[in-house]
Amino acid sequence: MVFDRSIKIAPSILSADFANFGAEIQAIEAAGCDWVHVDAMDGHFVPNLTFGPPLCAAIRPHIKTVMDVHLMIAPVDPYIEAYAKAGADIITAHLEAGPHAHRTMQAIRANGAKAGIALNPATPAHEIEYLLDMIDLVCVMTVNPGFGGQKFITSQIDKVRQLRQMIGDRPIHIEIDGGVTPLTAPLVAEAGADVLVAGSGVFKGGSVSNPAPYKTNISAIRAATEER
Ligand code: DX5
Ligand code: ZN
Repeated sequence: MVFDRSIKIAPSILSADFANFGAEIQAIEAAGCDWVHVDAMDGHFVPNLTFGPPLCAAIRPHIKTVMDVHLMIAPVDPYIEAYAKAGADIITAHLEAGPHAHRTMQAIRANGAKAGIALNPATPAHEIEYLLDMIDLVCVMTVNPGFGGQKFITSQIDKVRQLRQMIGDRPIHIEIDGGVTPLTAPLVAEAGADVLVAGSGVFKGGSVSNPAPYKTNISAIRAATEER
């Protein structure tokens, strides 16, 4: 993975057809997505339960781009090795998942993956000041984690702007997760985000038997960021 700040669209397979992940991943990659975002939820840190390491290992061969795994799990450290072995290119853990985020970031890199830190909407940007030299990505949650299809929280645009300034020349991606549409995408892109996770915004209107809307949706989000 070569670092750059171009806009990358990362569809969340939380909004895909769970009985057809292989076909869905093939369809979104054919439709022009840049990364594939996998939301792992534990039913404890967040009130929803989704994908464990065996599911990630099963879909890994279908992903030709980048497997971006977002862990909404607490405690998270005991599961890092398993998600890394399942083939995650990037593993993102929440700052709020425990008291030792520094150790968590070290563990992710030690397992050979890129390290991401995610911030819930209530968590200020400055909390990651002392992690900046050991991370590859910051994920700004623009919804409260747990579910797809929620409304974008506009106060987070300012957080993106602060993080962009804090990051300076460091090769750290700023990822936005939640409520991304052609209306909200330009706001966060302008503030400095380069990775846009979109679940419902990509999968809406389409299906395995009718994947054409995926391309329309991805292109509309990308075009909106280019018009700014
Ligand atoms: C929320 C997840 C998101 C979610 C985004 O906990 O981390 O990735 O699937 O879904 P939309 O784009 O529908 O808000
Ligand atoms: Zn996510």
